[in-house]
Amino acid sequence: MPVLVVDPGGPLRGHLRVPGDKSISHRVLMLAALADGSSTIRGLSGGGDVRCTLSIVGQLGADVDEGADGTLRIGGGSLHEPAEVLDVGNSGTGIRLLAGMLAGLPFRSVLDGDASIRRRPMDRVLAPLAQMGARVSGIDGSTLAPLTIDGGGLTGIDYEPPLASAQVKGCVLFAGLSADGPTTVVEPLRTRTHTEELFAATGIDVIDEPGRVTVAPGRPRPFEHDVEGDPSQAAFWAVAASIVPGSEVVVGHVYRGPARTGFVDVLRRMGADLHHDPATGDLAVRAAALHGTVVGADEVPGLVDEIPVLAVAAACAGGETRFEGVAELRVKESDRLATVEEMLAAMGAAVHVEGDVLVVRGGRLRGASVRSHHDHRIAMAAAVAALVADGPTTIDGWESVATSYPAFADDLAGLRSGGG
Ligand code: S3P
Repeated sequence: MPVLVVDPGGPLRGHLRVPGDKSISHRVLMLAALADGSSTIRGLSGGGDVRCTLSIVGQLGADVDEGADGTLRIGGGSLHEPAEVLDVGNSGTGIRLLAGMLAGLPFRSVLDGDASIRRRPMDRVLAPLAQMGARVSGIDGSTLAPLTIDGGGLTGIDYEPPLASAQVKGCVLFAGLSADGPTTVVEPLRTRTHTEELFAATGIDVIDEPGRVTVAPGRPRPFEHDVEGDPSQAAFWAVAASIVPGSEVVVGHVYRGPARTGFVDVLRRMGADLHHDPATGDLAVRAAALHGTVVGADEVPGLVDEIPVLAVAAACAGGETRFEGVAELRVKESDRLATVEEMLAAMGAAVHVEGDVLVVRGGRLRGASVRSHHDHRIAMAAAVAALVADGPTTIDGWESVATSYPAFADDLAGLRSGGG
């Protein structure tokens, strides 16, 4: 569906599940491919990004068996040189994490992706991999994809990335599994902790201390994993249910670990009525009047993917909201500082960018024609904003949503009919 038209309307009600967490999904596939034996994964994200990583582990020689109920069995442990280029599609997480894993494996591979991937910065992973002795190069002597990797012979390093990035941390730690000694990543600002959590859960020797993670070389053991719901997808419903009067929505079984639920804190601070159950992971949200807040730069790693939809919340809140230190948004699937600004401005919001700060002033939204710029989160954020606009909104490039949440429009229809 290249275009989605969303009419404003009544309350959202019901209980739903969102796709399995995308960050966890990539990592469990890679760990299952490395583990010597059969691993079982349930609840994997069905989005296009993760499907690409699934194909890639198959191309590398993992034995992939997908049951009718969605249960995946992956036989890993004997990976080999792939015959073809490995296509990550639209996935920055896929290419950066896989670059780390493949840098440690003793064969040549080439990682490529779509037009957006070919524009995104890869120097952030090429630099630490080079320090480890890896032979990884971009196209025509650049640091851009496609990346050619001649793997093997890595040295363990101590590395402090110049930016807060779980992808960089994950890349270096995956490479560290094949190094000749321990590898440490130092993080002044904590980023999502999936790599270290899943390493520990699969028997890898990992020391997770405040501000630093150290991994010893080794291989995971085969495992079973139920992937919890993706907080970044739950955030769309948290904002939608907050801003559409009379709404009451429960998103079931959402991941609760650190550095992913910053959006819950920010929405609460804005006056939202939401509860993330520590026992079940259920996220319950009821409509509430929101007011503006300041999102500090130190909070950004914990909600970096949620800023487009939090900007929609801000556009519906009383007063001004400032998102500080959000320069990283410029190098996501689209330049999200520009694309969020364009989308909200088209819908009549008072929004502007001051250096690395996104400023949004709340008010009435109008129905408009908006462009996703092939960015799934811009498309879904626009669909949420459209629920409270004064007329229909047409979202161009809706197909991009398939990279992370193919059933978004169906789930929206379900909540609108009260069924969830
Ligand atoms: C991710 C880390 C974040 C996030 C991305 C997923 C991960 O990227 O934006 O969607 O799974 O490690 P950065 O590490 O570039 O901040």
